[in-house]
Parts: sequence; structure tokens; C-alpha cells
Amino acid sequence: MKDEADETIVCRCEDLTLAEIRAAIEAGYTDFEELKRFLRVGMGPCQGRTCIPIVRRELARYLRKSVGEIAAPTKRPPAVNVLFGTVKSGSER
Ligand code: FES
Repeated sequence: MKDEADETIVCRCEDLTLAEIRAAIEAGYTDFEELKRFLRVGMGPCQGRTCIPIVRRELARYLRKSVGEIAAPTKRPPAVNVLFGTVKSGSER
């Protein structure tokens, strides 16, 4: 029997359901970085603001760990600050 919660959208940006997340975890993608590379979860415009906590909770449940034991994804901010004016004009410093 299909669980109605399986169709719940977990990652709105990448249109991923709870069933897809759970299937990937069951397939062996058991850390967030692996799931990110496999499903693109957390890589949308919101950068995982909504989905990261839910996916970490699912990983914790599957691995029988606390959420705190599940590593959060690596954040990669821009290496150098760039002014919007520079981006707009297309020029370099
Ligand atoms: S909801 Fe997952 S990246 Fe935005």
C-alpha cells in the first residue's frame, strides 16, 4: 500500500518527493553530499532552506541516529565578493 506522505514534495526547487528521497537513501545514498549529487536536493534557488532539515531528518531516521549526527551539506559561498554593479556592467575590477 502506498503511503500518501510519499507524494509530499520535500524539495520544491528541484521537485523531489519524499518517496524519491527515501528511494535514494534505500539505494545507498546515505549522506547529504551523495544525495545532493544524485538528486540535486538542496541545489535549487533557495539553497536548501526548506529541504535540508527534512532530508537530514530522513537520513537520521534511516540510519537510526540523531539529526545532529547527520552532517549538513557543505556551503560554498562565492570565493570573492563581487559588487552588483560589476556584474551588471560585465567589467572586472
Ligand atoms: S527546496 Fe530544496 S533547494 Fe530549495
